[in-house]
Amino acid sequence: MFKRKIKKNWIVSKHEPITELDQRVLSLQEQGFLVPSKNLIKTPEQIEGIRQSGVINTGVLDLIAREIHEGMTTGDIDRLVYNYTVDHGAIPAPLNYEGFPKSVCTSINEVVCHGIPNDEEQLLEGDIVNVDVSTIYNGYYSDASRMFVIGKTSKEKQHLVDVAYECLQLAAEAAKPFGLLGDVASVITKHAHKNGFSVVRDFCGHGVGLEFHEDPEVSHYGRRGTGMVMVPGMVFTIEPMINMGTWEVFVDAEDDWTVVTEDELPSAQWEHTFVMTDHGLEVLSH
Ligand code: MF3
Ligand code: CO
Repeated sequence: MFKRKIKKNWIVSKHEPITELDQRVLSLQEQGFLVPSKNLIKTPEQIEGIRQSGVINTGVLDLIAREIHEGMTTGDIDRLVYNYTVDHGAIPAPLNYEGFPKSVCTSINEVVCHGIPNDEEQLLEGDIVNVDVSTIYNGYYSDASRMFVIGKTSKEKQHLVDVAYECLQLAAEAAKPFGLLGDVASVITKHAHKNGFSVVRDFCGHGVGLEFHEDPEVSHYGRRGTGMVMVPGMVFTIEPMINMGTWEVFVDAEDDWTVVTEDELPSAQWEHTFVMTDHGLEVLSH
């Protein structure tokens, strides 16, 4: 007989008292559930810091919502993001992140994510555009994105944008304290498939707060009853990328950033930063 190995992430040092939370998580760990390491649980002070970062991050997206229009360039969006962020004493997290050259990701139509703003690319009537904003404030990170429709788009593209938003909302409702991340993934997968769409598998949500990208990985594709336990105090994004055609994507070799659908059919994405509380998810940036 092989003894099932349990990954022991939750470690209580001999020098600290065992809390009620420790007991609950240790018991889940002993039952074989994958639990987070204890350092993924944010303190109330850290959550407050991430919340303040999130207010600025949401403010950037509200500004873009007011200003976005046909004929402007993605370079114009980048300047709006940079100026608003630094005017509020914050730093755009994407700028120089692993060599990313701009302050925001702008992803139009068949671009799934990580599009690079530039002064040649104009927004045209019917485009669906994801604007993905991430902010560092007092060392705390927040991350959110929205879709914007330029003028009027086709019924199919509007439906894709709406279903991607519903996927995020349904996932947020499905995420319960001490539930599993697979429950989030399965709700997204079911809703996307029911509408004839597919779920991108190669990019996922992530822990966020003290760094841009932390554990855990938050997959949007998966089954109930799998994945890590969501413990109160964890801060993470959910950011489903929903495709009209195939789920498969490729990275543009010219810039090594821009992610495009394999069949070049449109893609849509919405992202919030959440904190898990004793009652469910609370939004820190949208
Ligand atoms: N904001 C993206 C996310 O949701 C990450 C972008 S990385 C960048 O995780 F370098 F492209 F900005
Ligand atoms: Co993110």
